[in-house]
Amino acid sequence: SQNERESLYIALDYAKKFYQEQLLQSDEGQSIGLSYFQERGFNRQTIQQFELGYALESWDAFTKNALQQKFRIEVLEKAGLSIRRDLDSRPDARVFDRFRARVIFPIHNVSGKVIAFGARILKADKNQPKYLNSPETEVYHKSNVLYGIYQAKNAIRNEDVAYLVEGYTDVISLHQSGITNVVASSGTALTVEQIRLIGRFSQNITVLYDGDAAGIKASLRGLDLILEEGLNVKLCTFPEGEDPDSYVRKIGGEAFRQYIKTQAVDFIRFKAEVLLQDAGNDPFRKAGVIKEMVESISKIPDAITRQVFFQQTARLMDLPEETLVAEANKRVRERI
Ligand code: UTP
Ligand code: MN
Ligand code: MN
Ligand code: MN
Ligand code: MN
Repeated sequence: SQNERESLYIALDYAKKFYQEQLLQSDEGQSIGLSYFQERGFNRQTIQQFELGYALESWDAFTKNALQQKFRIEVLEKAGLSIRRDLDSRPDARVFDRFRARVIFPIHNVSGKVIAFGARILKADKNQPKYLNSPETEVYHKSNVLYGIYQAKNAIRNEDVAYLVEGYTDVISLHQSGITNVVASSGTALTVEQIRLIGRFSQNITVLYDGDAAGIKASLRGLDLILEEGLNVKLCTFPEGEDPDSYVRKIGGEAFRQYIKTQAVDFIRFKAEVLLQDAGNDPFRKAGVIKEMVESISKIPDAITRQVFFQQTARLMDLPEETLVAEANKRVRERI
């Protein structure tokens, strides 16, 4: 209900402030959390703008504090902030904080309300996930959310392009380097809802995924979705082992912008090149590539754009354009 959602927003906002206060004011927050962010090169203004925080190394520092402030345990639980060990609702059941000994990245909705948190461990630990995120709640539907959209939306509209990255820290580092039209899918496969959210501000997306081959292959499918939604998509890759965060820190904001300008390629062209390289000289696999390409291009709603891509792909694959169009028509007939 509306009332229930409202009570979650209030608890989430309280938690955000609590974690900010721990980061900036507690000894532990300063010596561990703040120095972690400083080592990553985040300045005070950035920390403030993204409302970053720190969760103490304690089982229940937040929950205890919030209960003292008369928040109800049911609300803290439904907001994804607190966990009860057993589900019987004895008032004395052991309760503890979801986020402990981690730096905190609040996740905002498009109007700037905190709806969830991402929380990073400070040192690699094979027994724990690097990032722990809020669960799905009444106000947080992971598949509808893009990290950074609140901070980026005006720049996306003004520059008429959204840069889509994988991670929280990619968004933050690029912002600090003056590149503010950036949002993150937060490591999940891109969804239609996320694409439509970007589409409210611009029809152009440039995907900046991490420089590992596995990630690129896996992303090909998700990117077809952008075409289907009628948006234009380009792709820019980075040298092996780099992500946008590490790369912008290495070369600086101005060079980074230039890098995207010169390196970004049409998704269709990128896909053709990746698939063709995989297929080598095997004619059967090459035929498979043609079918895959036709499948992608057929998803583009606009006929003229479709035609341009058929021409371009035909040239790239050294085939007459008619062959591609015939294949597309055949697929349409088979579907009827
Ligand atoms: P990455 O592994 O690329 O992390 O995951 P990162 O963003 O570069 O983070 P740093 O630089 O190591 O701090 C990309 C995104 O996937 C999600 C997070 O949103 C992360 O930013 N992710 C990753 C998780 O949710 N859980 C994980 O355990 C790892
Ligand atoms: Mn809902
Ligand atoms: Mn990665
Ligand atoms: Mn990174
Ligand atoms: Mn990364």
